[in-house]
Amino acid sequence: MKFGVFCIFSLLVPLFNTINAHYELQAPPSRGFEDSLEPNPPCGGFNIVNSSLITNFPISQGIATANFFDGDGTLYFYFAPNINSTFISVSDAQKLVNPDIGQQVHVSVNLSKANAVVGSQGILQSVFNLSTGNGAWYQCADIKVTGDTRSSANNTQSSANNTQSSANNTLSNANNAQSSANIINALPNINVFVLLIWLFTYFVFLNRI
Ligand SMILES: *[C@@H]1O[C@H](CO)[C@@H](O)[C@H](O)[C@H]1NC(C)=O
Ligand SMILES: *[C@@H]1O[C@H](CO)[C@@H](O)[C@H](O)[C@H]1NC(C)=O
Ligand SMILES: *[C@@H]1O[C@H](CO)[C@@H](O)[C@H](O)[C@H]1NC(C)=O
Ligand SMILES: *[C@@H]1O[C@H](CO)[C@@H](O)[C@H](O)[C@H]1NC(C)=O
Ligand SMILES: *[C@@H]1O[C@H](CO)[C@@H](O)[C@H](O)[C@H]1NC(C)=O
Ligand SMILES: *[C@@H]1O[C@H](CO)[C@@H](O)[C@H](O)[C@H]1NC(C)=O
Ligand SMILES: *[C@@H]1O[C@H](CO)[C@@H](O)[C@H](O)[C@H]1NC(C)=O
Repeated sequence: MKFGVFCIFSLLVPLFNTINAHYELQAPPSRGFEDSLEPNPPCGGFNIVNSSLITNFPISQGIATANFFDGDGTLYFYFAPNINSTFISVSDAQKLVNPDIGQQVHVSVNLSKANAVVGSQGILQSVFNLSTGNGAWYQCADIKVTGDTRSSANNTQSSANNTQSSANNTLSNANNAQSSANIINALPNINVFVLLIWLFTYFVFLNRI
């Protein structure tokens, strides 16, 4: 019996975390995501540069992607050209009502609005203002500003092609966001699968007593 309770509990924990999540900045990848810290400005609890996670982002034709789990409100993007500067608006407001779990939201970002300079490193901040007026949820990504060689849509396509041709066993950094989105989307299914395995194990275990 105790074994069964343990099994049920151990699979409910990840299931609960998935449902409880708010939203995560995926592309460019956020410094980190912690559900309970997300209401804390300016970066949802991750307020220092993650030097192992600095990704390239085009200066005026960027497209940022956020993965939503709940919340009604409006999503904004801001850019701070260096760690001591203030955040300047770099996107239009994107309204979101009752997002589906795992819904991806793509927002055009123009870093030129914040006088970004190619080659510099700064912080892209996403702020999701709750329509209830009860504050906001924050995410940040460390980015290196690059020139606009092509549109982000084209970048995504070419990264996908790179991944296919270079090595079938590794994913490029650029594709990590997409891939973690898929993993997150698949989580509830994994949980059902794990539940079935645990229940099977549990009943086999019972029968042996
Ligand atoms: C920085 O990002 C890496 C992923 O590249 C992650 O493993 C690590 O935990 C992050 N560090 C902090 C301090 O959040
Ligand atoms: C940010 O401010 C700190 C303290 O004033 C200073 O030491 C640091 O050099 C500044 N960094 C940049 C990139 O301006
Ligand atoms: C980006 O913003 C700059 C400055 O406001 C503007 O001149 C430029 O046309 C914008 N580019 C795009 C692609 O929206
Ligand atoms: C978003 O919410 C934050 C925190 O409540 C607030 O400081 C900010 O002014 C809001 N921004 C907009 C554009 O409404
Ligand atoms: C993206 O690629 C398509 C097809 O090659 C091209 O028509 C389009 O202009 C490109 N977009 C940008 C912004 O470069
Ligand atoms: C990626 O591959 C597809 C299929 O081979 C091709 O149609 C597309 O043009 C490629 N995109 C880029 C940016 O190379
Ligand atoms: C990657 O895998 C696909 C499907 O299995 C295959 O068609 C392709 O040739 C592989 N690419 C490389 C570089 O091995």
